[in-house]
Amino acid sequence: MKIHSLFILAAGLFSSVAHAQPQSEAAINTKIEQLVRQMTTAEKVAMIHATSSFTSGGVKRLGIPELVMSDGPHGVRVEHGRDWNPDRNVYDSGTYLPTGVCLAATWNPQLGYAFGSVLGSEAAFRGKDVILGPGINIIRTPLNGRNFEYQSEDPFLVSKMVVGYIKGVQDQGISACVKHYALNNQEILRTSIDVQLSERALREIYLPGFKAAVQEGKVNTLMGSYNKVRGQWATHNQYLMNEILKKEWGFKGAVISDWGAVHSTMQALWNGCDIEMGTDLSMLPNPNYGRFYLGDTVLKLVQNKIVPEYILDEKVRRILYVMMKTNMLGGQRKKGSYNTKEHQQTARKVAEEGIVLLKNENNLLPINKDGIKTIAVIGVNADRKQSLGGGSSQVKAFYEVTPLQGIYDLVGKDVQVTYAPGYEIRRGATADQLSINKAAEAASKADVAIVVGGWTHGYNYAVWSDNAYDAEDIDKPDMNLPFGQDALINAVLKANPNTIVVMMGGGPVDMSQWIGSARAVVQAWYPGMEGGNALAGVLFGTINPSGKLPMTFPKTLADVPAHKLGQYPGDSVKVYYTDDIYVGYRYYDTYGVEPQFAFGHGLSYTTFSYSNLTVTGNGKSATATFTVTNSGKAAGSEVAQVYVKQDKSLLPRPEKELKGFQKVFLKPGESKKITVVLNSEAFQYYNDAQNKWVMEPGSFHVLVGSSSRDIRLTGKVTL
Ligand code: BGC
Repeated sequence: MKIHSLFILAAGLFSSVAHAQPQSEAAINTKIEQLVRQMTTAEKVAMIHATSSFTSGGVKRLGIPELVMSDGPHGVRVEHGRDWNPDRNVYDSGTYLPTGVCLAATWNPQLGYAFGSVLGSEAAFRGKDVILGPGINIIRTPLNGRNFEYQSEDPFLVSKMVVGYIKGVQDQGISACVKHYALNNQEILRTSIDVQLSERALREIYLPGFKAAVQEGKVNTLMGSYNKVRGQWATHNQYLMNEILKKEWGFKGAVISDWGAVHSTMQALWNGCDIEMGTDLSMLPNPNYGRFYLGDTVLKLVQNKIVPEYILDEKVRRILYVMMKTNMLGGQRKKGSYNTKEHQQTARKVAEEGIVLLKNENNLLPINKDGIKTIAVIGVNADRKQSLGGGSSQVKAFYEVTPLQGIYDLVGKDVQVTYAPGYEIRRGATADQLSINKAAEAASKADVAIVVGGWTHGYNYAVWSDNAYDAEDIDKPDMNLPFGQDALINAVLKANPNTIVVMMGGGPVDMSQWIGSARAVVQAWYPGMEGGNALAGVLFGTINPSGKLPMTFPKTLADVPAHKLGQYPGDSVKVYYTDDIYVGYRYYDTYGVEPQFAFGHGLSYTTFSYSNLTVTGNGKSATATFTVTNSGKAAGSEVAQVYVKQDKSLLPRPEKELKGFQKVFLKPGESKKITVVLNSEAFQYYNDAQNKWVMEPGSFHVLVGSSSRDIRLTGKVTL
């Protein structure tokens, strides 16, 4: 309760100096200038570095509070206190939303906004100023341990989802912090690796999400990543921070370093890092943040005129700008709310729309609960809570409905549910024949078997990277199901052909050992506190699935372009992204490599037909209109996807690229006309011989479909 009551007190103080809002940029700047003029150099320096695990400095004398931050992308993190010691007896168990990849799988930007609103509201309630999310690094390899926090392999999908998220957070009066800028696409070697890539790959694949966050989302803060980019640390990288972010994109907010990502005072000062965060654990229990790179040294450098004061002022101005934008220096702040039914319903809705039905031979799903008497639920993930795992994104959930609980609750007393774990989550655990036999026996006696397996965050939540799979600071060793799950799934499938395989986790597994015999497969990601209810809804048909894969599921790791064309994880000094722009489906489709499940794929319990495509060109842009009809018997939603392909170009281009999509809900028999505007950017590519975005005149194919590999209509336009 401590935090909440403190916050109420603070809110009371602020409201006494309330004035009209929103304030104009001019008024904001005037106030900022007034404050900067009154500050001593030491006071300015105090603002540009950490003062505890999750705060940076304020200036009490002038009424400037500390900036209070919290992870993370899918829930407000547990309270770690000022010294990383978990606070006791505080009300810090909150709404645990589905993780980023599940949000992206909804392909529903409005849900992005709802998701962000929950985070912003709970952050406000908990007395935070900045929520350290969204995480939007491109999914380059399925092995990245943080893919579950991220969103997609496709920059367009990321750009659309990220804007809603940020606005949702910031409309609650809390700053979002888009991260990790940039090229933090692997966790292994994340604090040392130097990413080398072409300007084209940078511009076309890795930056658009951040650009949208800044220019469309108007994100208040951004986090610099741990890695180097082209020889210089990303957090104080002249090109990324000064040239692109601040100059080219016009970012007005503050750059926050990742925790411990600053390596040089001079570079941080000159290259656009505004706040140095982190905790030198060796300093505990008496951390001296003055020893940080952006600590006392800066005072001396400025006093001795080695660094001009305007460099420091610029950082302070940016921090004050963030504070002004969120009414931290006056005006009314929202109080926020915590653990409301609405927040929990948002978590549920995101899960319901994000879970993907990958395969459903002969309509094994949905299960008709009135037609069965017994179900065998198998697999550790069925009965496992995931919220506290994964690293800095860990959430202490107010509650978490596991898949097993969700199934129990949905089927009620009339159906008998048995449970067998089938495997054990333990370091180096392989198939355990005894557990497998028990699971197979349970399956053979049941009308339907549901295996819930896949990845997990690891089994030791105290040391999150300890033998974890989906976790910070670690990558997966390969794409193979751990703990002997392939053998388990095969045994269960053999014991009962009515077996549904549900995979949890941040991305694909190699399914080659059983995909041929599994009739129904569902991808459930980490679906949050209401995930068990959402999953049960999908399995039993109270929810018609509408999630679509935000990343390609390859057949095997050897097919992945980062591994085949590029380098991964690099040689510990450098990693060359020679896979270039051929990330995800851009590779699979251009090079004719068949994936297990394509980008954008996801089935429904109804069918949709597409008709009447017209594409009208308008010089440099075009408009595509087409009709989607629910041609089946159940109400449901379809994500209609629009891809663009250029006929001939000077530089090679991918086979197709996503440039528009729309999720539509349709009753059986209902049709809707969909209009997708393809602005000039939809037709451009980055010519890195000329170092600019170009639109080469010519003809373009407009491909409309239900996935990147299920194109239903094609049109053409000459621009
Ligand atoms: C992570 C960030 C996180 C920060 C603070 C770092 O290790 O990379 O994503 O926001 O810690 O917890």
